[in-house]
Amino acid sequence: MSIIIKDEAGIAAMRTACKLAAEVLDYITPHVQPGVTTNELDRLCHNYMLEVQGTIPAPLNYAPQGHKPYPKSICTSINHQVCHGIPNDKPLKKGDILNIDITVIKDGWHGDSSRMFMVGGEAAASIAARRLCSITFDAMWKGIVQVKPGATLGDIGHAVQQYVENSGYSVVREFCGHGIGRGFHEEPQVLHYGKPGTLDVLQPGMIFTIEPMVNAGRRDIKESNDGWAIVTKDRSLSAQWEHTVLVTPTGYEVLTVSEGTPPPPAFV
Ligand code: MF3
Ligand code: CO
Ligand code: CO
Repeated sequence: MSIIIKDEAGIAAMRTACKLAAEVLDYITPHVQPGVTTNELDRLCHNYMLEVQGTIPAPLNYAPQGHKPYPKSICTSINHQVCHGIPNDKPLKKGDILNIDITVIKDGWHGDSSRMFMVGGEAAASIAARRLCSITFDAMWKGIVQVKPGATLGDIGHAVQQYVENSGYSVVREFCGHGIGRGFHEEPQVLHYGKPGTLDVLQPGMIFTIEPMVNAGRRDIKESNDGWAIVTKDRSLSAQWEHTVLVTPTGYEVLTVSEGTPPPPAFV
């Protein structure tokens, strides 16, 4: 197996799929409120994908090696949950921080993006939670701006790790970004830590996600007993943002963009 370089038709199809993933996040944003359950968010997104967009929720019944089929259409990871949180019937509480991760399939192509949400608005979140969400967003962008032909995957990982650790946080090692296209998880693995100048050299037409998981405490994680959700071992807060990115002849193009996509930070 190796990294698949997408041609113009593939890139066009990925632009469409990725925009649709971002549009699901836009759609669900006003519904993220205290008292709403993540099952309700799942149901709303599921119906929007199937009925409005004509997309397929990629997580539903997704069953990589060693996992039972994922039972829902979206991932909702709250507070100390790192990723792959399964929607349930517990109402969201004011001050919770929540990652919603959306992957849609359109015409056989995958678009993958996630954002952080503060339940009850920014003012409801603790200063610690707000800083974690904001540093994690900037960390994703520190990785994105490394992307150009001739740069390496190690450059991306290093930029993310350096920024996160200089901010006093830790990077989760066990999960990473990934190539994406007709496959949900293709080569390469995009680590969010590493050394400059190492690993694969980026080439135009590569498409992969950058999706750092950042813990306020130690980097250690464990799997919860539902077989999917990953949590921090020390129960510290964790945040994640994710974009799908194309390597262009001169740099990068973020594909998971919609009207509601948060703009890049000032340093970009
Ligand atoms: N969307 C996740 C990612 O960014 C993967 C979720 S797999 C699932 O790679 F089965 F949990 F949905
Ligand atoms: Co992903
Ligand atoms: Co994702």
